[in-house]
Amino acid sequence: MTNSSTILVFDSGLGGLTVLREVVAARPDAHYVYVADDAFFPYGHHSEDEIIARVVPLMGELIGAHDPDLVVIACNTASTLVLSHLRAAYSLPFVGTVPAIKPACAQSKTRRVSVLGTKGTVKREYTKALIRDFAQGCEVTLVGSPELASLAEAELSGTSVSDDAIRAELAPCFVGEAAGARTDTVVLACTHYPLLLDRLKKLAPWPVDWIDPAPAIARRVSDLLGARSGGIVQSGAEMIFTSNRAHGLSATLTPFFGGRAVA
Ligand code: DGL
Repeated sequence: MTNSSTILVFDSGLGGLTVLREVVAARPDAHYVYVADDAFFPYGHHSEDEIIARVVPLMGELIGAHDPDLVVIACNTASTLVLSHLRAAYSLPFVGTVPAIKPACAQSKTRRVSVLGTKGTVKREYTKALIRDFAQGCEVTLVGSPELASLAEAELSGTSVSDDAIRAELAPCFVGEAAGARTDTVVLACTHYPLLLDRLKKLAPWPVDWIDPAPAIARRVSDLLGARSGGIVQSGAEMIFTSNRAHGLSATLTPFFGGRAVA
């Protein structure tokens, strides 16, 4: 691949921007197309069959329209379900976003880890297999949050979200009482949640490590693209909503795109 590769980053909404910003930082030389499938948001409320039936053909249309060199599925709710279908249907590389259970369990000192994701993600066989394979003796608590992704969308779009609303979604992650035996690590298993990280830290009943897989995803993308040839020429960026709404959020969005103007 060349230094003008096109990377398509896909999510149900604005959460994938937290992955995009790491990928853009790792590969400022690429051209970016960010697609928010907001017409079908939130994915966490849809059945597995509905998500497969939605994402697989939609991805075909997006590949036809934008001819990307690589696609990042910046959504746990979709990745834990559709990656194998996408790889079977289309020949380009797909990088997924799945719950970072392995690194979280490797670093937990109290051996108590919580996985905070959408209701869909925590129910997936894929997530259960990650726990079977990589819990390394840790007690893993799965927390399916019904509303946190929507709250993150609201906050990023300028609607203030109350502390109580966030606290209610967060509370089940905190298990145990004694300092040496309570949850010390929380996996952010939905790409929307890092948008609220400052609030999560503030509202947590005690300090924990929050595990966001975005930097690891960016390294994987960069490895797949291969070495940059020549100097960095910053390419453009586009943002598409499947609802066809205009994004109208430029000042808020620009930092996620590494400061470039978003078409
Ligand atoms: N951003 C998505 C994820 O990582 C989920 C949000 C939704 O429910 O659509 O799981």
